[in-house]
Amino acid sequence: MNNKEVVKKKVFVRTFGCQMNDRDSEAITGLFRQNGYTLTDDPKTADVILVNTCSVREHAEEREISFLGSLKKISREGRRMKDEGREKLIPHPSSLIPRVIGLIGCMAKARGQEIAKQMPHVNLICSPASEDRILEYVEKIQKDGGRIIDLEDRQRDEEFYQAPFNIDANHAQVVISTGCSNHCTYCIVPSVRGELRLRKPEDIVDEVKRNMDLGITRITLLGQNVNDYCFHPSNVNFIDLLKMAADINEIEEVDFMTSHPKNTSSELFNFMAGSHKIKKQLHLPIQSGSDKILKAMNRGYRREQYLKLAADYRHIVEGILGTDIIIGFPGESERDFLDTVDIVKTVGFNYAYIFMYSPRPGTAAAKLADDVPLAEKKRRHAELLALQKKISKGNITKY
Ligand code: SAH
Ligand code: SF4
Ligand code: F3S
Repeated sequence: MNNKEVVKKKVFVRTFGCQMNDRDSEAITGLFRQNGYTLTDDPKTADVILVNTCSVREHAEEREISFLGSLKKISREGRRMKDEGREKLIPHPSSLIPRVIGLIGCMAKARGQEIAKQMPHVNLICSPASEDRILEYVEKIQKDGGRIIDLEDRQRDEEFYQAPFNIDANHAQVVISTGCSNHCTYCIVPSVRGELRLRKPEDIVDEVKRNMDLGITRITLLGQNVNDYCFHPSNVNFIDLLKMAADINEIEEVDFMTSHPKNTSSELFNFMAGSHKIKKQLHLPIQSGSDKILKAMNRGYRREQYLKLAADYRHIVEGILGTDIIIGFPGESERDFLDTVDIVKTVGFNYAYIFMYSPRPGTAAAKLADDVPLAEKKRRHAELLALQKKISKGNITKY
């Protein structure tokens, strides 16, 4: 008997970054499972190792680079198998096939060429937009050896989202759009994820229904700014999409991430208030409470507009309100910071993710002097965090 037919190949996936990456990793895992792979949580035993990365802040990248570096040792070893509980080295039936170590996701796009030079053991580098081709690339490397680098920016094939796999058996995330065309000056997302691209409303609804068939009744719709969704020529906008999801009988709860304040409307709040299926929770990143900084960030709203929006939301929806804040953006004076402190007190967010600004290569803000000293960033960060902790009685920090 040929061992290769008996032992299934194994894939290991490590995910950094935001919910978008979590969902992409699920879709990729689903594709591999559909093609006969099993999942492993030990990279030493894996035939395919995929590291799905985030570039949003320097700190995130540092951890990812160190993880990728740690795989160098494994790349020289044979694949391991468990033998009656004890770990031993090969022979593993697939050990003659080249092992794939893949850098995928946002940092692949941002720093793929540079990492390719530094890390010869990484033999697959794939941008977020080309993740629908990963399986094909893996098979090619397994067959022919060598290295594949694909940093293209394009619309993914709809099939990417079709293979069922969910980490959480009760809750699923559904991507409604990829990329972003907003160009906030500090943000690397548009350059690593590409311009805004929409999935078709019927494809999104189909995916929601497929989840429902699996018994999943809670859904999060995902987009960098969900309010930018408007599908032509049918003119289906985000509120229409929410309605389509909520109209599915078996669905119990729908929520969404993220809403940009510049085009979040009271129409959305009215819909949220009127539908018992929409979760009464809104993530509405403010970034700063200073008009000067908001302008420099190209956010497209002023402090007063945000305050009005937050008050409308509290009044109409009476729900949870969370936010993202960046402190230490170039040119942020003590006064600007105090404006942020003031708005945090006024709004009383239920939770807030507070980040220290880090310049991202290629963004407009990276051309400005990063002139708030690190010690000052740390002080402002700690101060705001302490304030928010008091307000929300405990704080969570993600990404
Ligand atoms: N699309 C979402 C989130 C994008 S990234 C939105 O528009 O809100 C998530 C958060 O990371 C942002 O809201 C911002 O607060 C933070 N962030 C983005 N770029 C950053 C940078 N260069 N330095 C520090 N924080 C940053
Ligand atoms: Fe980045 Fe702004 Fe787009 Fe959010 S809306 S992803 S912060 S450019
Ligand atoms: Fe998300 Fe990070 Fe990319 S926040 S979109 S994984 S840069």
